[in-house]
This record gives sequence, structure tokens and C-alpha cells, in this order.
Amino acid sequence: MLRLNCKNSDYRIIGEEHGLNLEEEFNNYAGRIADIIRNLNQRKDKPGECLQWLNLGYNEETVWYVKEFASMVEGRFENILVLGIGGSALGGLAVTEALLKPYWNFLSAEQRNNLPRIFFLDNIDPDSINGILAILDLKKTLVNVITKSGDTAETMSQFMVIKDLMEKALGDDYRKNIIATTDKKMGILRQLADQEGYKIFYVPDDIGGRFSVFSSIGLVPFALVGLDIDKIINGIKDIDLELKNTDIRQNIASQYALIHYLMDTKKGKNITVLMPYSSRLKYIPDWYVQLIAESLGKAVNRNSETVFAGLTPVKALGATDQHTKLQLFNEGPNDKVITFIRVGEFDTNLEIPRIFEYTGIGYLGGKTINDLMNAEADSTMVSLIDNQRPTLTLTIDKIDEYHIAQLLYMLEVQTAIAGELYNINAFDQPGVEQVKNYLYTLMGRAGYDGSSSYLKEKIGS
Ligand code: PA5
Repeated sequence: MLRLNCKNSDYRIIGEEHGLNLEEEFNNYAGRIADIIRNLNQRKDKPGECLQWLNLGYNEETVWYVKEFASMVEGRFENILVLGIGGSALGGLAVTEALLKPYWNFLSAEQRNNLPRIFFLDNIDPDSINGILAILDLKKTLVNVITKSGDTAETMSQFMVIKDLMEKALGDDYRKNIIATTDKKMGILRQLADQEGYKIFYVPDDIGGRFSVFSSIGLVPFALVGLDIDKIINGIKDIDLELKNTDIRQNIASQYALIHYLMDTKKGKNITVLMPYSSRLKYIPDWYVQLIAESLGKAVNRNSETVFAGLTPVKALGATDQHTKLQLFNEGPNDKVITFIRVGEFDTNLEIPRIFEYTGIGYLGGKTINDLMNAEADSTMVSLIDNQRPTLTLTIDKIDEYHIAQLLYMLEVQTAIAGELYNINAFDQPGVEQVKNYLYTLMGRAGYDGSSSYLKEKIGS
């Protein structure tokens, strides 16, 4: 099971100025946290609360349906191409990077057990779109276009380019190479998929993009590349029970949320750094950045008071970023809480040969790369303690479907708890919608011309 060690955020370790009295704070907030957890679970099935992601560990029907589809298309495609942005891409990217063999797309078909390669096109850079088209044989590619709203300009423009090319390459059969993941009732992709006859997977109601990784948005690509989605679901189910525990001492999501909240509001530390010590986990901080930024960055609270709340999420990677960001973390402003993700056991135990023994690097010989990685994380942690910087450590036993699912799900639950502590709505994104609307105006979408002269004036000034 996922573990959290928070002792290095305590004043006994890093001093009173920067550390919290965790025992006292856990006592003070025990009642509030219990209420929040009870309340979230009571509200979760209420339409409009956007808490349906709390039920994704129990969605047997979707899991069955996705597995059925994956087995139907098994062996038919060389590539999966996912089109999506934000919450429709980042979870898929983070989980496949963690769970597939490293450098998956460079492995031979045999090394991949004849499972397809997977590509995520999450931006609209014309060069990279062209670049990916140069790599992929569209006849052997299954395109999964993912947009919950069904009309996000970035995703739909990519889709329009690719659909056109697919039709040219495959004739009428191109439809068999497209699956759409979108809302059940609304949106343009929903209508198009019906008209054109694409296979559709629905995103359940009341699940925002950044909380959707374990809905069909993630499960479809995961199953297509052979990940065990039953293990993912079991991981969520098991930790969900723990995270329903109303006792803060037994509930790591509430500890994580409360420590960040208090570090922000009492100690002025409003930056949250997520730093896994594993390259396979390197996109999890990207996913976390969206989760934290969009959920907690809010101008007003639930009482309509202006609060400008939010934590600034920063991604880092151990050991790489010891040589880039660590100088700042250790000696720059003491305004961050740094969370390490540690892996109990790597799949590989890689020994460093006993060579160059007569030189200054001889000490490395006979150790393992694993020993070195652990020593890197320990050294970083101690240096941060020396400099009175608060850290947390999340540990997973190993990188597999079960544990990765628990890690992401816990981070989602803690985000919901943090939203309640800040008394803000963690599930809307008016700042994102504002830009989407401006974009539609600038690109001439019907019905969006209201702010046209305002935009022209601002852009011109
Ligand atoms: O978290 C969110 O809601 C957003 O980041 C969306 O995921 C993103 O804007 C993409 O939206 P859609 O899936 O509707 O294309």
C-alpha cells in the first residue's frame, strides 16, 4: 500500500520557523477533516458535484466493455495515436510512461509482445503534428480522439487534419481506425461519432478532465497497450477504503492536504514540488501540475469572497534535477513543500562493475545503480532538512498497475480535501473556459463574437 512519511515537515526536525507541530495540528483539525471526508462521500453521487471519479474503482461495466474492445482489436494495429489535451492526455501519458517497458515505442514488435506503440499528440505544434505523421502508417494506426466537451479546438483541429488523411489513405474503411471518447449526451464529437459511425466510449457525467484518468479516458488506451486494468481498479478500490477513513492519523490523503494547506496559510509556503526518484514516473508531476493548478487556483471561495487561492505546482525529477533545481530548493526562498516519490523495488537490479578501482570513481564499483539512486534521494532529503526545508515522502513498493493507480488516486483525493480546506470549488475551471471562449472568438466560431472588439483592442495595444 502507498505510504506517506511526513516527519520532515515537523518543527522537531526542521525548526519552529518552518516546521509544523504535526501532532497538535492533527489534533486541531481532526474534527474538520472527519467532516470533510464524510461530506465528500455524502455528496459524491449528487449530480453537479463533480465527484463521480470517487466511484471509478467500482465501475465494473466500463472495465468489462473496454477489455472486450481491446481483445477484439488485438493484433490489428501497430500504433495507438491519442489526440487530447490537458486532462484528456496527461493521465494517459503519465501512466503509460510509468507502466510500459522503458522506451516502449523503440522496442521491436516481438519485445512488445506484438502490442502497439503509443503516441500522445497533446499540442498543436504544426511541426510535431507533421513529424508524427511522418512516423505513423495510418493504415496500421488506431486513433483515439479524446475530448469530454467534444469541441476543444486543439484536439478537434488535430482530429480534422488526421481524419482527412486517414480517409484519403483508407477510403471508407478509415472509420474502423477511429475511436472517440467523449461525453454521453453533448458535444460535437458525440454527434460526429454517431454520424460517421466511430466506436464511442463515454466519459461519465460529473468527472472533470483532471480527475478522469481512471475513466474510459485512460482505461481505453491502457487496455489497448496491454496494461492490466483490473489491477488498476483493484489498486483504487483498496486505497479508496483507506481514504474513506475519517481519522486523520489513518488517512494519508488528508495528512498530505492539511500539511500543504497549513504550510501555505501559516508558513507562507505556497509552492508544491513533486519529485519522483524514477524516470518512469517522470510525467506524473506533469499530471500533478494540472491537478493542483486547475483545482486549487481560484479567485473566489464558496462564499463568493475574493481569495486568490492556490498552490503553485512545480515538477522535478530525481536525481536529474539535483543538478538543476536543487540549488534553488536548498538555498532559495523557503517557500516550498517538496514531496519525494520513492520506489521500494525497481524491476532491475543493476550492478556497477568493479572497474577503474585505482581512480576516484572506484568507490562506485560493486554497488548498484539502485543503491546510488537511493543514496541520491537520501542525500537530497538530508540537505533539505539541514536547510530547514519541509519535505514529505511518498513510497510505493514497486512500479506496477496496482501501486501507480493508488498514487494517482490518493493525489486526487487529497486535492478534493485541500479544496474543502480552502473553501473553494476544486472542480471548476473558469480561467480555462475564459481562454477557450476568447480563442473561439479569435478563430471566428459562430456565437462567440461578443468579445471581438474587446479582444482586438487588447491585442492591438
Ligand atoms: O481538467 C480539465 O477539465 C481540462 O484541463 C480539460 O481536461 C481540457 O481542457 C480538455 O478538455 P476536453 O476533454 O473537453 O477536450
